Amino acid sequence: MNRTQIEILDARHPALPSWLNDATQTTLRNCLLSRRYIWLVTGAAGFIGSNLVEVLLLLGQHVRGMDNFATGHQRNLDEVRSRVGETNWQRFTFFQADIRELRACESAVERIDYVLHQAALGSVPRSVNDPIATNDVNTSGFLNMLDASRRAGVQRFVYAASSSTYGDEPNLPKREDRIGNPLSPYAVTKLVNEIYAGVYARTYGFASIGLRYFNVFGPRQDPYGAYAAVIPKWISAMLGNEAVQINGDGATSRDFSYVGNVVQANLRAALRDKLTTSTVYNVAVGGRATLNDLFLVIRDGLSAHGIEYRQEPIYGNFRAGDVRHSQADVSKARSEMAFEPLVDLRAGMVEALPWYIERLSR
Ligand SMILES: NC(=O)c1ccc[n+]([C@@H]2O[C@H](COP(=O)([O-])OP(=O)(O)OC[C@H]3O[C@@H](n4cnc5c(N)ncnc54)[C@H](O)[C@@H]3O)[C@@H](O)[C@H]2O)c1
Repeated sequence: MNRTQIEILDARHPALPSWLNDATQTTLRNCLLSRRYIWLVTGAAGFIGSNLVEVLLLLGQHVRGMDNFATGHQRNLDEVRSRVGETNWQRFTFFQADIRELRACESAVERIDYVLHQAALGSVPRSVNDPIATNDVNTSGFLNMLDASRRAGVQRFVYAASSSTYGDEPNLPKREDRIGNPLSPYAVTKLVNEIYAGVYARTYGFASIGLRYFNVFGPRQDPYGAYAAVIPKWISAMLGNEAVQINGDGATSRDFSYVGNVVQANLRAALRDKLTTSTVYNVAVGGRATLNDLFLVIRDGLSAHGIEYRQEPIYGNFRAGDVRHSQADVSKARSEMAFEPLVDLRAGMVEALPWYIERLSR
C-alpha cells in the first residue's frame, strides 16, 4: 500500500456510524477497509443482523445474508440497501432459508470466511409460551450452523449468546466464568449453544466465539408484537401517547447497550487471533439503569425532539423468567479483543430515537 492509499484509509469515513469513526476504532476500520472477506450473517433481516450487514457493506465487505423472516422483515433489508447505496449493495446476496434445514446451512456457508450467527427466536416470554419452537430454532438450528461451518472450514464462527445464561447467579457485575441456573427455556438454549461450542473445540478443534449480549437496542428493533423488547415497545407507546406498562416495581435493572457496541464486538471477534478453545465475552456497556431510569431517559429524549409525554407509567406484575438485575463486566472483551463500548444508554437513545420518531409518529 502506498502513502496516499494509507492516508485515504485513515481519513474518517462520513457514511460510517460515528462510533466507527472514533479514534479507538482506527485499526479495526482500516483493517476491514483494506481487505475484502466474505461474511455470512444469519438473521440478516432482523434487528442486529441488519445492522451488521449495513456496517459490513459500508466497510467494503462481501456479505451473504440468511433469514426465513420468522421475526425479521424485508423492509429492514430494503432500508439497509437505501442506506448503503447501490454500489455497496452489489456485494450483498440473500438466502431465504431456515437454519433448521441442514442442507440450507451447508449451502449458506460455502466459501465463507466469517460466520456471524444471529438467527434465533428471541424473547424469554416467547420461550415460556412455546419452548418447543424456541428449542428447535435456537438449539437444533444453531447446531446445524455450527456443524456446517466446521465442515466448510470457515475461519471463525461468531454467535449471539445471551446474558440470560447468568440466570439466578446473584453477583454483579456478571463475569463470564460465573453462571447460575437458567430461568427460562430461552436461557437453556443459549447455554446449550455455549456447551456445544466448547465441545466442538475439544472434539474437532473448531473453536468459536460466543458474544453474550445484554439488552441491545437501536434502529430497526421491532416495536410491534407481543414479544417486542422493552425499549421499542415503550418508545412506540409514548409516541402514540399510550400508557407505558412496567413489569414489577421499576427497580429491575439492565445493562442497556446500543447496537453499535454489538456490531463492534462481532467484527473484533471475527478478526481476533487464532483460538485453541472456544470462548465467550460479555458485550454491553458495563452500566446499569433501572426500568424507572429507562422511562425517564426515553421521555427526556423525546422531549429533546419537542415530543412531550405527560403520563406516568403503570406498574404491573413481575414477568415469569425475568432476571432481577443485570450488569456486565466487560473487562474480558476489553483486554482480549480491544472492545470499547462507546455508546451508552443516553448516547444510544440519541442515535435511536430519530428512527422511531420518523416511522411511528402519528
Ligand atoms: N436484542 C437483544 O437484546 C438480544 C440480547 C441477547 C441475545 N440476543 C440474540 O441476538 C440475536 C439477534 O437478535 P435480534 O434482537 O436481532 O432479534 P430479531 O428477531 O430481530 O432477529 C432474529 C432474526 O433471525 C431470523 N430467524 C429466526 N428463526 C430463523 C430460522 N429458523 N431460520 C433463519 N432465520 C431465522 C428472524 O427472522 C430474524 O430476522 C438472537 O440470537 C438473539 O437471541 C439478542
